[in-house]
Amino acid sequence: MTRYLYIEPLSETQDGKIPSDNSVTLKNVTYSYDGEKNALDGVSLTINAGQTVALVGPSGGGKTTLASIVSRFFDPQEGRVLIGGVDIKEIPKELLMNTVSFVFQSSRLVKDTVLENVRLSNPQATREEAINALNAAQCADIIEKLPNSIDTVIGADGVYLSGGEQQRIAIARAILKNAPIIILDEATAFADPDNEQKVQAALSKLSEGKTVIMIAHRLSTVANADCIYVLADGKIAESGTRDELIEKNGIFTKMWNDYNKSVEWRIGGGQND
Ligand SMILES: Nc1ncnc2c1ncn2[C@@H]1O[C@H](COP(=O)(O)OP(=O)(O)OP(=O)(O)O)[C@@H](O)[C@H]1O
Ligand SMILES: [Mg+2]
Repeated sequence: MTRYLYIEPLSETQDGKIPSDNSVTLKNVTYSYDGEKNALDGVSLTINAGQTVALVGPSGGGKTTLASIVSRFFDPQEGRVLIGGVDIKEIPKELLMNTVSFVFQSSRLVKDTVLENVRLSNPQATREEAINALNAAQCADIIEKLPNSIDTVIGADGVYLSGGEQQRIAIARAILKNAPIIILDEATAFADPDNEQKVQAALSKLSEGKTVIMIAHRLSTVANADCIYVLADGKIAESGTRDELIEKNGIFTKMWNDYNKSVEWRIGGGQND
């Protein structure tokens, strides 16, 4: 009897497997939120360690769902997700959490100081390490205007941050966590170009030397991706580099032309000739 009690907890810790590298593979992944419509429908792809891939496509195409499945917020009904050759169901939870960092479309900050918001991902980090992460994430201008610098509580006493500012703090948090696999769900819209430019700079700092899955709404950000996947109706409709996709003259080319038209429209000050 005592022997069983002794053995059981041990066998639990022996279950976990360690990924051999930071590659990500999806094999025939199907996921449905409601059991009727598939948000992802037989998706397969491989991202080598250190590569950057971009996910693009129409709203509702399945981009955030794919990213959530790689982070194991939920498991697919069919198919498998592997990191470094190991099914993520077999990777110990804490190790998986430290391996994958997800920066959300709309980042959530907690009602606490800037410092604690950044240290949420790594409570052992020192104040100095948190400050370095904030600087790398282009947050200097935010901190400067706060009454108590990084010790200011966000969301209290009239201290509120814009969406882009909140996203930069969330990027600082991810930089401090230093996970080898980064998932970025780019915010859909920014109010001003200065903020957009700072967020982009913060994201490229975060991405240095990492395996990156970038969900891109502005096609300007996908130019340097090793591979672009166009997700539509839960399926990979097209994949390749930007030049390869433009050559195909398919769904990506149409998105690219529409995107460039909207950029011209903005540069032209909203004039619709
Ligand atoms: N929590 C949810 N419950 C039910 N259905 C959902 C949920 N989240 C997403 N869906 C559905 O799953 C499909 C894929 O959605 P997903 O959020 O992955 O798209 P997306 O490509 O990220 O879109 P966007 O570009 O607008 O962010 C859509 O049909 C959407 O309505
Ligand atoms: Mg989304």
